[in-house]
Amino acid sequence: MFDQVLEKVEAQCREERIPMLGPEKAEFVANCIEQAKPSLIVECGTAVGYSGLWILRVLKSIGSGKLITVEIDTNRAEQARSNFVEAGVADLVDSRIGDAEQVLKSIDDQVDFLILDNNFDNYYPCFKSIESQLTNPATILADNVGIGADSMVDYLEHVRSQYESETNWFDINLPWVKQDAIEVSVYRR
Ligand SMILES: C[S@@+](CC[C@H](N)C(=O)[O-])C[C@H]1O[C@@H](n2cnc3c(N)ncnc32)[C@H](O)[C@@H]1O
Repeated sequence: MFDQVLEKVEAQCREERIPMLGPEKAEFVANCIEQAKPSLIVECGTAVGYSGLWILRVLKSIGSGKLITVEIDTNRAEQARSNFVEAGVADLVDSRIGDAEQVLKSIDDQVDFLILDNNFDNYYPCFKSIESQLTNPATILADNVGIGADSMVDYLEHVRSQYESETNWFDINLPWVKQDAIEVSVYRR
C-alpha cells in the first residue's frame, strides 16, 4: 500500500507540476536520515507529502523518530495529511499549516535534523527561528541550492562560513528541472 501511495503522489506532482524532491534527491535524503537516525526531523515545505513519505518510510524502518512538517498552502497540507493516513504513517508525523518561519518558533522540542525546502528567501529566517532548538550537532539539508542560490545568499554564506557544509549535485528527471543540488551542513554551537 505504501508504495502505491508514493507512486500516486509522484504521478500527481508530475502531472500538476507540484514541486517535489523527485526520486534522485529523495533517495539521498532518505540515506542521510538512515545514517543520522534522528529523533526529531523538521521539514519546511510539505507540498502534498512526497518527501514526507520518503522520510516517514525511513523512520518506520528504523523504528524511531518523528517528523514535523510545515506547509503554508492549506489545500496542499490537507492532501499531504490524507496521503500520510493512506500510507499508514500518520502516527509518525505532525503536519502543521502556516508560515514556516513563524511555526518553527513554536517548536519546544530539540531538533536534530532540519530540512529546508520552502521559499528560498526564507531559508535563513527559518534557520534562525529554530536555531535555539537545534541539537549539538544537528544535520541541516537545504534543497535547491543550485537553482535557488541567488535567493538564499544569506543562508549559504552563513552555513558555508560557520559549519562543515557540502554541496551535492544531482541529475534530475523532472519536467521543470534537470540539475540541482542539496547543501548538507553539520550545525555545531
Ligand atoms: C518545493 S515545495 C516542497 C516539496 C516537498 N518537500 C516534496 O519534496 O514533496 C515547496 C513548498 O513550500 C511551500 N511554502 C512556500 N513558502 C512557505 C512558507 N513560508 N512556509 C511554509 N511553506 C511554504 C509551498 O507552498 C510549497 O508547497
